[in-house]
Amino acid sequence: MKFTQKLAVLMVPALLVLGFSASSAFAGSSPKHGIVAAYTLVVPSSIAKSHLQVRAVIPNGVACPTVTKTYANGYKSESPMTLRAPGATTGPAFASLRACQANLPSGLSYARVGAIGVPAKFQPKFDKIAVFGDTGCRITAKQVQNCSTPATWPLARNAESVAAAKPDVIFFTGDFFYREAACPTDKLSFCGGSPPPALLPAAGQKYAPISDTDYGWIADALIPMAPAFAAAPMLVTRGNHEECSRGGNGWMLLFEIKLKSDSCAPTAAGMEAPDNIAPTYSVDFPVASGRTLRAIMVDSNGGSNSSITPEWQALQKPAYQQADKLAAPKTGRESWLITHRPMFGIDDVNQFDKPDPTATPPDPGELNWTSMDQTGAALGLTSRFNLMLASHVHVAQVVQMPGQPAQVIFGNGGSVPDSTNPADYPTPAYGPLNTPAGQPIDPAYPPINQLPSYVWTKIKYGHAIFTPGAKAGQWSISQRDTGGKQFAACTAVGKKFTCK
Ligand SMILES: [Fe+2]
Ligand SMILES: [Fe+2]
Repeated sequence: MKFTQKLAVLMVPALLVLGFSASSAFAGSSPKHGIVAAYTLVVPSSIAKSHLQVRAVIPNGVACPTVTKTYANGYKSESPMTLRAPGATTGPAFASLRACQANLPSGLSYARVGAIGVPAKFQPKFDKIAVFGDTGCRITAKQVQNCSTPATWPLARNAESVAAAKPDVIFFTGDFFYREAACPTDKLSFCGGSPPPALLPAAGQKYAPISDTDYGWIADALIPMAPAFAAAPMLVTRGNHEECSRGGNGWMLLFEIKLKSDSCAPTAAGMEAPDNIAPTYSVDFPVASGRTLRAIMVDSNGGSNSSITPEWQALQKPAYQQADKLAAPKTGRESWLITHRPMFGIDDVNQFDKPDPTATPPDPGELNWTSMDQTGAALGLTSRFNLMLASHVHVAQVVQMPGQPAQVIFGNGGSVPDSTNPADYPTPAYGPLNTPAGQPIDPAYPPINQLPSYVWTKIKYGHAIFTPGAKAGQWSISQRDTGGKQFAACTAVGKKFTCK
């Protein structure tokens, strides 16, 4: 199938998801562009004073559309969008799509790109925050998720329920992209037709420099997430599935706000781009009179779950030092750290990466504490946060370490969990930065010789809705399944977070 035919096939469902029938999409003011997706990102005030930037995803070969803005007083105007292009070395992997961006002004009541309405308001007061992450359909050489039913890959249903909750903003906690391999011929009923990686390994290399493609992103994120895109502006986090060697090029093209759109492009020799990390930034959300939530965003795409990696520490530690500065105490302000990999997450102990004592040095395999490069980099830099929001482990989880802000994980957005057996997520009998035998993982990083005072884990797909309580630092959190039904009620008070 030619690219243009393939795009047409993919765009029909995209338009249907967006609520257009074939006739209504092209009736009235007919759009001049075939827009694949449009959404609004929350950005820091240094990028847009309004905190809002619209993105549109378009077929390659057409100009960026304009944004049509309607102000609260009824005045209308149009403004151009600027092009975001993938790196030239992504070649056929990103040949078919381009992205466009435009900052929105404050004071709008409505905005649209072509015929697609996009969220246009940064609310004066945020009463409802939706949180979800880890959403793509996992296709690797080792594991194939059944992407063909809402029970086994529920992202589209979850995104509809997030939209039905009418949030003021959505916090996406990372890991959009999971289509890292071709669908195996014996699993066609699970993932037949899933866009496979397009680039091959360079000469002498075992792995291709990237695993994502434009059509992979359409299938894994742009179509199923369309209801959420239409519902509210999104504050998006880069996950490890968006590291340069995996879905990094799509991330840079579609969702990154600080780095250039070609920042993950393979080298001229066809090798993967060197690791990169975006600068830490923050966004302030007014939540009630005199109360402000400061969301501090740290890029944690790289590093290791179970060991300390010196070259990654050199990038990650400054990101946490900057986060600590941004969390300086101020009357009426509470700070949350938002980063994909948790500092104190409890992962499945039954992972693929088994211990290998014969390796040099011996490989401890996956520990049930994750992610050690985060714990190491953020050590001593977390005391100013009220809450640490992450995902990465494909469950809903709360881990309270003594004296630390609660670590809360919402990795249950749609990607298959490593295990659905609760017994595979035991509370560790040793502190973070230790091996299971109680030895420091790295002599340069003092272990935390404490056990968690509270652990709550639920293996269930869904999302969370935060609503502010009456006093500073108080939140009610409704954990909901993919149909929007509450399965747990949680409360956050200061640095403590409990669920039942
Ligand atoms: Fe994930
Ligand atoms: Fe992850």
